[in-house]
Amino acid sequence: MALVDVSVARRGDRGRNQAKLADHVDRLGEEHPPIPLDSVDYTMNRPDVLAERFGPVLSYMSRVELEVERNVLELNLLLPDPPEVDRHFYADVWLPQETHHGIILDRLQVEAGLDAATPNVTDVSLKLKVLGALGRVSAVQDMSRMLYYLTGLATERSAVLAYNKLHAGLVELGERAVAATVVAPIRRQEPGHFAYYQFAARDLWPQLASWQRWLVRTLRRKTFGPVGVDTKQQKVEFGHTMKALGINTGDEADLRHYATQVGRVEHELLWAHRKGLRVPDYVFKALRSAAGAAADLKGDRRSATERGEP
Ligand SMILES: [Fe+2]
Ligand SMILES: [Fe+2]
Repeated sequence: MALVDVSVARRGDRGRNQAKLADHVDRLGEEHPPIPLDSVDYTMNRPDVLAERFGPVLSYMSRVELEVERNVLELNLLLPDPPEVDRHFYADVWLPQETHHGIILDRLQVEAGLDAATPNVTDVSLKLKVLGALGRVSAVQDMSRMLYYLTGLATERSAVLAYNKLHAGLVELGERAVAATVVAPIRRQEPGHFAYYQFAARDLWPQLASWQRWLVRTLRRKTFGPVGVDTKQQKVEFGHTMKALGINTGDEADLRHYATQVGRVEHELLWAHRKGLRVPDYVFKALRSAAGAAADLKGDRRSATERGEP
């Protein structure tokens, strides 16, 4: 009898959580419409200095923001039968907001004299197609949803931190117009995305069976990577972005501190039961690897120059 009462109570909790999540998405949609493209002032005092200082950041961030269009294709594959609240969030709220972030950042880099972004908005990897086919089994789809929320948590937390640093850097350069009309409005929209994934992840995790949790933990540990980093070139680009933002200072303690912030909720949910485990070490290692790839490339270039090669 007690068991029946517990399961009824849990179902009640889930219903309430879903209603809260739906309210959150509705509020995000109402309070944060996509940033009007004509609200942006691209006036720059020294576009050359801005491009030199933050070129890699604009290139990476604009590409990743524009690639949400492909991410939605991936989600449609991964989650063939998503809860309505998820679909409403990513299709009606998240996609239009992020797309405008991408368009605005891309215009900014072109205005600063840099190349326009070349996002991949159509090609979905085979790995995701396979996962999508498996996702017709509901136990698999639940794991795919959990992985989606965890990816979203890390990505949105990273975005908040990156835009804070980019805003501070632009103010420091005296580029107040673009700090106030490009970066400030974008960074206001990211915490709502983070809150969505956090709420959804905390709701779903306790519903997973222990084998599903084990598989989610294993997949995160084996496949974690920064968003939009699939090729060696993109890894190098991400390494340069971390350097330009001061996330990678050359001191591993700083990078670990950043990784801790990115992985905090994931650690609490997935790993806190393992006392003493470093806050997800795979997050730190992925970041350190990108930082290393960027540094190696610089080293290669320097040695080529030193050798007198073109
Ligand atoms: Fe964004
Ligand atoms: Fe976002």
